Amino acid sequence: MELLGFSYWASRSVTFLVLSSYCVAYTPIEHCFFHSSDTYPYYGSKTAYMNNKFRPNNSNETETNCSPKNIWFLARHGTRNPGVKYLRRMRDHLPLLRDQILENHGNGQGELCKYDIELLHRWRLTASDQEAKFLVDEGYTELESIGRRFKSRFPALFESYNNESYVFAYTESQRTEASAVAFVKGIFEDEHHQVWFRPPVTPDPLLRFYKKCQKWRYEVHKNFDALFHVKMFETGPEMSNLRHIISVRLGFNRTLTQSEVDIVYLMCAFDEAWRPTVHSPWCSVFTPKDLAIIEYREDLKYYYDSGYGHDINYQQGCPMIKDVISVLKGSSQNNTIGHFYFTHSGTVLKFLARLGLFKDSTPLRYDNYSTQKNRLWRTSIIDSFASNIAFVLYNCGEEEKVAVYIQEKVVKLPFCESEMCKIKEFLNGYNDIGNNCDFEAICRLPVGFSETPNDRSIDIEDA
Ligand SMILES: *[C@@H]1O[C@H](CO)[C@@H](O)[C@H](O)[C@H]1NC(C)=O
Ligand SMILES: *[C@@H]1O[C@H](CO)[C@@H](O)[C@H](O)[C@H]1NC(C)=O
Ligand SMILES: *[C@@H]1O[C@H](CO)[C@@H](O)[C@H](O)[C@H]1NC(C)=O
Ligand SMILES: *[C@@H]1O[C@H](CO)[C@@H](O)[C@H](O)[C@H]1NC(C)=O
Ligand SMILES: *[C@@H]1O[C@H](CO)[C@@H](O)[C@H](O)[C@H]1NC(C)=O
Ligand SMILES: *[C@@H]1O[C@H](CO)[C@@H](O)[C@H](O)[C@H]1NC(C)=O
Repeated sequence: MELLGFSYWASRSVTFLVLSSYCVAYTPIEHCFFHSSDTYPYYGSKTAYMNNKFRPNNSNETETNCSPKNIWFLARHGTRNPGVKYLRRMRDHLPLLRDQILENHGNGQGELCKYDIELLHRWRLTASDQEAKFLVDEGYTELESIGRRFKSRFPALFESYNNESYVFAYTESQRTEASAVAFVKGIFEDEHHQVWFRPPVTPDPLLRFYKKCQKWRYEVHKNFDALFHVKMFETGPEMSNLRHIISVRLGFNRTLTQSEVDIVYLMCAFDEAWRPTVHSPWCSVFTPKDLAIIEYREDLKYYYDSGYGHDINYQQGCPMIKDVISVLKGSSQNNTIGHFYFTHSGTVLKFLARLGLFKDSTPLRYDNYSTQKNRLWRTSIIDSFASNIAFVLYNCGEEEKVAVYIQEKVVKLPFCESEMCKIKEFLNGYNDIGNNCDFEAICRLPVGFSETPNDRSIDIEDA
């Protein structure tokens, strides 16, 4: 214990090292994540909702002279298991890598502290292929508590369940269905068994519009060149240096490959999302500085696959805008007071970009890591597990206003003067997008396009 405490302080404090250098001379500098207080829980789209730092800590700040009358809500499913392909990669590579790290440590190579080594030694992956992409307990809790908070914030919208007042829909997947059920439980508590869910359709033209967008699939999603900046960043100085540092830290003579670093990162990210209060031994491999670099790579990936990086990414998101407008406009004729959709990362990001939110004044580039530290497009914030977007329509005396909430926090829309946006202002801003939403035309491949896609696509651990 004494020794552990010593290594910890040795790694944390340069001053201490200098002052007592005669003591430290025989001990290699050890990196001890376990004791570290400066954790960095931002893992792009694998960030737990609990660690999404965008969330407000007080969520009751609505204008007092307005009363909510309608809500349109969309959420990404909560924390889940990895897909089969990644589960297999984890199972194939991580035990081997772990054994090598332990062996290196045994040979006095590497910088991980004894305690982290011990945790790594005890690490097991329990998820099975049958449960690939399934919602995990943490994900259920995320959605249930979001539901509970919405109910407490907008009690008038959730007085009691009735089939005519609400639309609940999810895509055809266990993780979105289970997320919907969890949310509904948070809202309606004992009444939740009565809730009727619209049967899922595949492909869903609204909740997963991009599955129907051929042009996007060919020109972006399956096109290696569309992710040029991601590949360039991976071979650039920040990532090369990171691979080198990590290899030394783990006691390897060779430099780990990008895919080795990636599978370690992915395991670390999932471990942290599954149990946000417990540190994964795989995260011991990284310092906050390292994680910030990989986070940028993740942001680049989603910027070019689902964000402002290519116009088609967000142009195809117009059906969502159309739906929001029709719900908010139709609310005076219809009896519905709530629409609730449970869907995926790919939908959330493209929709946010279509709304014009989180748009940086300069594009994210492979060579701009250092100037993009304060970027708005940060998937840890806009695309964590259980990310959500809510439009709430208010009656404010004579006027109607709309507010949009991202991760339960009110956000000003680009076309609006303030967070409480006059419905006219809102419609002025978005009507054109809704009215000119010819999805078929937007997503049609160019005439004569017959090539098979350039399917060396970069891994996007999808949705
Ligand atoms: C919310 O968090 C911020 C920063 O973490 C803090 O400054 C502020 O006082 C908190 N507000 C409330 C109401 O707790
Ligand atoms: C928010 O407001 C509702 C009703 O106005 C109240 O019941 C609830 O306790 C409030 N929540 C917080 C966190 O203040
Ligand atoms: C709820 O309404 C839908 C139509 O919107 C209908 O198909 C369904 O059967 C209703 N469910 C119940 C339990 O009444
Ligand atoms: C790594 O390098 C050291 C020193 O050059 C050497 O003693 C050791 O055998 C090497 N280990 C492996 C696995 O190659
Ligand atoms: C309103 O009701 C009509 C008729 O039932 C339906 O076709 C329309 O989709 C509804 N609009 C909204 C926004 O729910
Ligand atoms: C990064 O972006 C800035 C503008 O923010 C630009 O001036 C600079 O040239 C870019 N860096 C590189 C290396 O291209």
